[in-house]
Amino acid sequence: SIPVVIDCDPGVDDALALLYALASPELDVRGVTTVAGNAGLDQVTRNAAQVLDLAGAPADLPLVAGLAGPIARTARIPDEPMHGAGGLGGLDLPGSLRAPGREHAVDWLAEQILAAPGELTLVALGPLSNVAAMVARHPEAGPALRGIVVMGGAARCQGNVTPAAEFNFFADPEAARRVLESGLAVRVVGLDVTRAALFPLEPAERLAALPGAAGAAGTLLRGFVQRYQDRFGVAAVPVHDALAVAAVTHPGLLGYDSGTATVECAGEVTRGALVADLRTPGRARDVRVARTVDADGFTRLLTERLAAYARTR
Ligand code: BDR
Ligand code: CA
Repeated sequence: SIPVVIDCDPGVDDALALLYALASPELDVRGVTTVAGNAGLDQVTRNAAQVLDLAGAPADLPLVAGLAGPIARTARIPDEPMHGAGGLGGLDLPGSLRAPGREHAVDWLAEQILAAPGELTLVALGPLSNVAAMVARHPEAGPALRGIVVMGGAARCQGNVTPAAEFNFFADPEAARRVLESGLAVRVVGLDVTRAALFPLEPAERLAALPGAAGAAGTLLRGFVQRYQDRFGVAAVPVHDALAVAAVTHPGLLGYDSGTATVECAGEVTRGALVADLRTPGRARDVRVARTVDADGFTRLLTERLAAYARTR
C-alpha cells in the first residue's frame, strides 16, 4: 500500500476525505496534520480528532497540529457557509480523547519524510502553509517525498472565493506559490475536476440511512449537498478533498496536463489565482494539473468506501 500523510483543515470534505482514506486498503495512512483554513487551528484539530475516532483509527495514529495562519499574511478565518457551524456541518460527534502530538507539524512532516526517503506521498487538503513552511525550513525533505497531491486552484474555470481564486490558494497564496514553484513532483487537483465530479443527493441519502459511522458520514455528505443546493440550485456537491485522496488510490480516475504553474500573490482582484502554463509541457520542473475525471467512478468509489463503515461498527 502507498504510505501517505494527510495535511488538512476539516472541513466537511476534509472529514469525508479522511474517512475515505482510512477505509482504503490502497493506502497506509501514517499520520494527519492540521492547518488553519476552514476554521481556526484548534477547531480543525479537534474536528480531525473526532473524525479519526469516527473512522475507528488506531489511538496512536499521529495527529499533529501545524500553522494557525498563512506564512506571510494575517490569519483570517473565513465566513464559509459550506462547512456550517464548527466546520463539520453542525454534526454532533462525541468529544475526542486524542491529544495532538507535541511536535509542530512542519517539523514532524520533515521527520516522517526523511525517515522513509522516496516513499511518502503528502496529500494537502487545506491552505498550503504547513507544506510551504516545511519545504523552506527543511530543504532536504521535499525532494525525499514520493510526491505531493494538492487540492487547490482553478486552472481553467472560475474560483469559489473570488472569480479568480479557489479557497485553499486564496487563503495562503504565498504558500501555494512556493509549493507550485518548488520543482517537486506536484499533482494539482483543483476545481476544474472537483466541479466535474459532483456527488449527488440520492447516494448521500442512502448512506445517511446506514448504521454507525457510515450513517454519520452520509449525514455529513447529505448536509453538504443540501447547502450546495441552497446556494447554487444543484442537488449535487463537489467533494473536493476526497477526490484528491482518490487521485492517490485510483490514479486512473484523473487525466492530467503538465506545465509550469504559479499563484498570483500581488493582484488586486486576482489574489490566489492559479496561473498554469500548460501550452508547452515537458520541462523538468513541470507540475501536473488535473483536467479530466471519471465522475461516476468517483461517486461509486466514495459511496462504497463510506458504506463499508456500516460493517465496522
Ligand atoms: C477547498 O476549500 C475548502 O473549503 C475545502 O475543504 C477544500 O479543501 C475547496 O476549494
Ligand atoms: Ca480542505
